[in-house]
Amino acid sequence: MRASRILSSPATARAAAVRIVEVGPRDGLQNVKKTIPLTTKLELISRLRQTGLGAIEITSVVSPRAIPQLADCRALLADESIQTQIRQNDSSGSSPNTNSLRLPVLVPNLKGLEIALQNGVREVAVFVSATEGFSKANINATVDQGLARAREVTQRATSAGLVVRGYVSCIFADPFDGPTPQSAVLKVVRVLLDVGCYEVSLGDTLGVGSPADVKNLLEYLFANGIGPSKLAGHFHDTYGQAVANVWQAYRCGLRAFDSSVGGLGGCPFAPGAKGNAATEDLVYMFERAGCDTGVDLEKLVEVGNWISAQLDKPNESRAGVALTAKKALPSLKAKTVGQARDIASSAGLTWKLVSETESLRVYRSGVNLKVVLNQPKKGNALTVAMIHELTRLFRETKSNRSISRVAITSEGRYFCAGMDLGKGTSPVAQSQQVSDAQYERLATLFRAIDTAPQVTVAAINGPAFGGGVGLAFACDVRIASSSTTMTLSEAKLGLCPATISKYVVREWGLPFTREAMLSARPVTAAELHSLGCVTKVVADAEELSPALDRYLTQLKISAPEASSMCKQLIKLGWTNPGGPEQEQGIKQLFDRMMRPDGEASIGLKAFQETRRPPDWDEITMSRSAATGKPKL
Ligand code: HMG
Ligand code: MG
Repeated sequence: MRASRILSSPATARAAAVRIVEVGPRDGLQNVKKTIPLTTKLELISRLRQTGLGAIEITSVVSPRAIPQLADCRALLADESIQTQIRQNDSSGSSPNTNSLRLPVLVPNLKGLEIALQNGVREVAVFVSATEGFSKANINATVDQGLARAREVTQRATSAGLVVRGYVSCIFADPFDGPTPQSAVLKVVRVLLDVGCYEVSLGDTLGVGSPADVKNLLEYLFANGIGPSKLAGHFHDTYGQAVANVWQAYRCGLRAFDSSVGGLGGCPFAPGAKGNAATEDLVYMFERAGCDTGVDLEKLVEVGNWISAQLDKPNESRAGVALTAKKALPSLKAKTVGQARDIASSAGLTWKLVSETESLRVYRSGVNLKVVLNQPKKGNALTVAMIHELTRLFRETKSNRSISRVAITSEGRYFCAGMDLGKGTSPVAQSQQVSDAQYERLATLFRAIDTAPQVTVAAINGPAFGGGVGLAFACDVRIASSSTTMTLSEAKLGLCPATISKYVVREWGLPFTREAMLSARPVTAAELHSLGCVTKVVADAEELSPALDRYLTQLKISAPEASSMCKQLIKLGWTNPGGPEQEQGIKQLFDRMMRPDGEASIGLKAFQETRRPPDWDEITMSRSAATGKPKL
């Protein structure tokens, strides 16, 4: 379908004081190494549309060898959801919101333009570097050749009724040539405007510029006859200056800015360059300055969290992270269950506070339970009360078939300081009876965790010592923040890591545990990750909660009883490798999984009928709803 109607200039299309061009689906994704499914890209665009953004650059039609990530651009453009959106924009009588949404596509040459035209695209963007080094690397052409291509693309596009946006890259520096002369930027901006681009976006591709550089360049361009209404700002955030640069450009008179949700972005031909200014940060900044952006910040923050989770990367938007944390805060402060509010998390899990005591808070999200050790002032040490409460919780949960997973994490700097060794509370050097009671308490707690039928996950937010290490390693799986250390500190105090050794030896292996026990040194999360006994290490404690949510969500592809059987197989392999008990146990589990009323009757049926795999969480929840309200 060819476009025939000439679109209005975007500056008049929206009433917002500042126009934001969301480049996440293109600039944001182009440098991501892991292939992102087309469905995720489409969903990102769809979610972004719902935030009220006025322009979303949806992809680029470039050589798939240059940008493999966007090799699916044709499929994306041809997708019904995109086609519908393009068609809606085509109808002049539609509502202002849909009428004003623009979906530009980046094209480097006539070939890209033809593909865009075949898919009915109404707006394209051309791009030329101000500098030779980047131009060669990026489009295999000199600056003049790039300008000639931009000219032919713009002419052909405008004659087909499209509007064309221009980019000039490397406005401050080039990765190969160094600092960019202002005159080189002026030259490209002039040509792009002359050939018919409605505006030119000034790209600090390397993200090296500062507000002073922005001011200097803009004053130079203005002095040479380029008005602010013809310019937009496109700042990458390598040196953390992107938002400041946007503000500076705004103060100089610019009103259009490119940004990426979650601060995604980068260019494979500008090594080391970081993502774009985060859209959430711009919206936050402008709205607080009284400048309407037309964007719903709350919805946008959700999109930023969602896409970061999909890409398994930290959300780079400072406002996004802060607003997410703020939203979570009221429920963390809730004192009673009645007052409990939800914690919305980046992976889409909403945690409801279901109980709270002196030492523990317990949250629930669907089939997941999250236990938070809540005595940060004591380093979350295992006091008698805490041990009792944890043990009781695991006992109660054991028979609760509506719970498939239990996570343990902590409030504060430490995950768990281990056995309570405070003056007056320590069971050391008291009677045999006191010693026995403490042994029984600890052994029972670790056993309760170890034998839980649910999948247990420790989300370790910081250092752990002694019994705290046991707590983490009695669980099935661990994810940890990079500040986590595990110290078997007992030998330093004249003790030995008795009850926990069962689990630590099993998970760490003999030689490693021996050295760690004897040296009593802090073992880092990275070391444990390399041993395979910590599944994932995230940058900091803030990242841990979304990472936990993502991990729990990921586990829903596994059936709960099957998971419990897997756990038993592992146990048999540990306690009786190669022996008759293992053989017998395997046979029993084999029979159990073959039952006609077992989970396999659902899982296999879906497989054989080539249907989507079952959503086990949904099945568990609906079964438990049918059998009455669970206690937790
Ligand atoms: P080339 O190798 O010189 O050109 O690449 P070619 O004409 O010989 O084409 C090579 C192959 O690409 C051929 O395929 C063409 O058919 C194909 P083969 O025959 O070898 O199988 N090809 C295309 N395929 C799909 N769509 C097309 C297309 N054109 C050719 N449009 C070329 C020259 C420009 C194509 C290549 O270098 C290229 O695609 N570069 C784009 C790189 C890119 O996308 N960089 C990131 C965007 S720029 C950026 O991020 C900066 C910005 O954000 C602003 C800022 O931050 O400053 C905008
Ligand atoms: Mg860019």
